Amino acid sequence: MFANRIENLIESPVREILKVIDRPGMISFAGGLPATECFPELDVSSVKSAHLQYGPSEGDDELREQVAASLTERGLKTAADRVLILSGSQQGIDLVAKLFVDRGTGIAVEAPTYLAALQVFDLFGAEYISYTADQPETGNARLTYTIPTFQNPTGHCYNEAQRQALALACDRSGSVLFEDDPYRDLVYDDCDRTPICSYVRNTEWIYQSSFSKVYAPGLRLGYLTCSEKLFPHLVRLKQAADLHSCRISQQLILKLLQANNGRNQKLTTFYRQRRDSFDLSLTASFSGIADWQRPVGGLFYWLTLRPEFAIDTREILKRSIAAGVAFMPGEAFYPRGVKAVPSLRLNFSHASPQAADDGLYTLAKIIRTACEGRV
Ligand SMILES: Cc1ncc(COP(=O)(O)O)c(C=O)c1O
Repeated sequence: MFANRIENLIESPVREILKVIDRPGMISFAGGLPATECFPELDVSSVKSAHLQYGPSEGDDELREQVAASLTERGLKTAADRVLILSGSQQGIDLVAKLFVDRGTGIAVEAPTYLAALQVFDLFGAEYISYTADQPETGNARLTYTIPTFQNPTGHCYNEAQRQALALACDRSGSVLFEDDPYRDLVYDDCDRTPICSYVRNTEWIYQSSFSKVYAPGLRLGYLTCSEKLFPHLVRLKQAADLHSCRISQQLILKLLQANNGRNQKLTTFYRQRRDSFDLSLTASFSGIADWQRPVGGLFYWLTLRPEFAIDTREILKRSIAAGVAFMPGEAFYPRGVKAVPSLRLNFSHASPQAADDGLYTLAKIIRTACEGRV
């Protein structure tokens, strides 16, 4: 009854976990949820009735111009007529996969990487080649997917040399570089955030980002720009997917961008404080159990359990949810077929500092109990 590719359609583990996080009293470290108290106030009266009409697939002109200006500012030269507004940057992943991936197409990814990108690539039948920031070999992959700035899930941020090396690897192999950059504005300490696509000399490239993390994911708005040759194809795929993105969301985001009221600074101050208090709570509960690096930006901590506590984190998820704490097991971030990895991803932006402290204490206790008898 179904298309062959549906065999490859897996349920998103994160969306399954997100279903339980609204239970009263649940402490969630699971999704990449921005803090609700940071959502912007929206002036819906600014939306004109003209914006209730069908609009251009590429997106509304004024928003595309704002986006092009901000891309140029971050070092990626582009123009408004090469900006495509997306219904969330997740849509960019879908469009790019449709453009490049057939059954058996090689994609170079970091392992671990963003699980919902793997879900899309899997659907189209991708095979994976994995690379690291220090060894960016992309082999004969047709596409190279990267989240170099505050990676999901590890929080890692590439330095300048690593950025240049990945661009060079793609230039040499001819692999199309697909840079996914939704966290770049959530920056807490000094670091390089130059788009890797700005270093590319001859291979094709796509760069995308999102309004979800800085404004509100419910508005479902993101954008991409790309090398000249790819743009018309991505526009046609967008036409075929949903005609255009929500024009009300586009107007609301445009107004917020134009207001330019120091929002980013307030937001990063808020999240930096959340990260720092999370770090203290982690040290209190997880010292001796796991190792981690303090992320310089983004929304996640990636914990690697010490050998004495190295368990399959999928096995403790049920227990943890029953105790009122949700997190993301590490396995979900690896290409399919991976065996247990003793890692977990913790989002630090959503829970209040007190709730995070309580939740980390509970989670550490569950891990200790599960490993009792082994240490
Ligand atoms: C790396 C990465 N790419 C894309 C997305 C999708 O974001 P959105 O569709 O809300 O723009 C996310 C969401 O968490 C993400 O972490």
